[in-house]
Amino acid sequence: MIGKVYGTGSYVPPHVMDNDDLSRMVDTSDEWIRERTGISRRHIAKAETTSYMAGEAAWKAVEQSRIAPAEIDLILVATSSSETIFPCTACEVQKRIGAVNAAGYDLNAACTGFVHAFNTAQAYISAGIYRTVLVVGAESMSNMIDWSDRGTCILFGDGAGAVLLRGEEGGKAFMAAHSDGEKSQALTSLSRHRRDWEKETDGASYVRMDGQGVFKFAVRKVPEIIEEVLDQAHMELDEVDYFVLHQANRRIIEAVAKRLNTDLSRFPMNLEEYANTSAATIPILLDEMNEKELLQRGQKVLMAGFGAGLTWGACLFEW
Ligand code: ACO
Repeated sequence: MIGKVYGTGSYVPPHVMDNDDLSRMVDTSDEWIRERTGISRRHIAKAETTSYMAGEAAWKAVEQSRIAPAEIDLILVATSSSETIFPCTACEVQKRIGAVNAAGYDLNAACTGFVHAFNTAQAYISAGIYRTVLVVGAESMSNMIDWSDRGTCILFGDGAGAVLLRGEEGGKAFMAAHSDGEKSQALTSLSRHRRDWEKETDGASYVRMDGQGVFKFAVRKVPEIIEEVLDQAHMELDEVDYFVLHQANRRIIEAVAKRLNTDLSRFPMNLEEYANTSAATIPILLDEMNEKELLQRGQKVLMAGFGAGLTWGACLFEW
């Protein structure tokens, strides 16, 4: 049994912040940001919450699938920026789409979260535990960013994407996942609710990042994990139709393609428009590709995510 994609959906807030807007807030420029990252714009949540965006993306995926919400067995939401610690975002999505028979929980592995959630769904489906699983990645990164830190505030955006999977006989998804807690300090965001007893404050906390360290990690580990799932599947690089990578930085994706000696045209990108929406980048991109009818049944898709933890994961599956 394998989870086949029956529907995709996404939601990004309408408010757009471009690089020129940012250059009025911090010492940066459109040229610097585009050259170093490939990003031109990002969509920023104003009134929208993470669970609202997750619900919108989920609803579109469910509508497209033509599966009744009551048939959904499980909802998994990958997020590290929900407006609530509990209730979990998955339960908010359940309420919003009327998936009355679904269990649900959230999963946090930062930017790798969607790949982990997708792999978890596939494992449940192949074990025969659940048949119909909704997998969502949703983030409000704008709430976690220090808007005076030019090293990080230029990189992120907000949004959500969703995929509805239903079990079918035959086929297999090939997966791998790793983490390296020794490198946890390369990318952090402390809990906003942690009380500092010495300063007697509930300190605000923002994303802090060793940009070059994260860059080097991604460029080394993503090609390795791509090779790992291909080995499992006894497949060659040439047999993959699309490499759908976490959209953090154009230069990371270019370096991965180069290391694998593979044409960049097989690495779709949309980070120019949305920037890094963490766990939401991959499902937003899948939904865009689906809408453009780039994805056909039987094509081989290899997803790879990487991020804080440090964590990285991949899945090779048939569309
Ligand atoms: N505008 C202008 N100058 C800047 C900016 C900015 N926004 N940010 C940094 N600089 C300056 C630095 O201060 C430095 O100046 P100096 O030479 O006078 O000291 C100079 O630019 C070079 O800085 P670097 O950090 O060396 O620049 P780099 O080429 O490494 O680019 C970047 C920085 C874009 C952050 C890059 O390291 C990167 O993309 N890393 C990966 C980060 C990432 O993708 N994180 C998220 C992945 S995981 C997840 O998604 C959660």
